[in-house]
Amino acid sequence: MPIKIVMVCLGNICRSPLAEGLLASKLPEDKFIVESAGTGSWHIGKHPDERSIATAKKNGLDISKQKGKHFTSNLFEEFDYIYVMDASNYANVTSLAKTEIHKEKVKLILDELFPGDNVDVPDPFYGLQNGFDMVFKMLDEATDLLSKRLIEKHS
Ligand code: 4NP
Repeated sequence: MPIKIVMVCLGNICRSPLAEGLLASKLPEDKFIVESAGTGSWHIGKHPDERSIATAKKNGLDISKQKGKHFTSNLFEEFDYIYVMDASNYANVTSLAKTEIHKEKVKLILDELFPGDNVDVPDPFYGLQNGFDMVFKMLDEATDLLSKRLIEKHS
């Protein structure tokens, strides 16, 4: 059975699609499945924001075929790991958890880089292109560490 990881943000069009694409590119496909979802439901079935698609593309990653999904409580059973981008996502996702085991699956993605510091990946939606570049860099570094840890743990 492959290990399943879901990346979660608010809209599922800016940050979590980049996180999904980055992590998926660093893990062997036969052992891991990476998806993403949003705590908001506005963008179900939509492709990522064109600025995220362009940011990924200039870094050699194609995220254009991803489609938006809503984070619902059944995903606690489906996924082994749930990575959120910020404290607000954490509050929204954990509020849907019915058991302590489900709640414990939820982690801030930047805890990989700064354990215990509760650092957010800032929402770039209303900002400029440099916000997307910064988000990409943060997520690239976090997924470098995360992919190594997951491969080690599950090999
Ligand atoms: P994301 O950014 O959570 O990184 O996908 C957002 C995208 C859209 C909206 C909010 C945040 N929105 O309000 O539509």
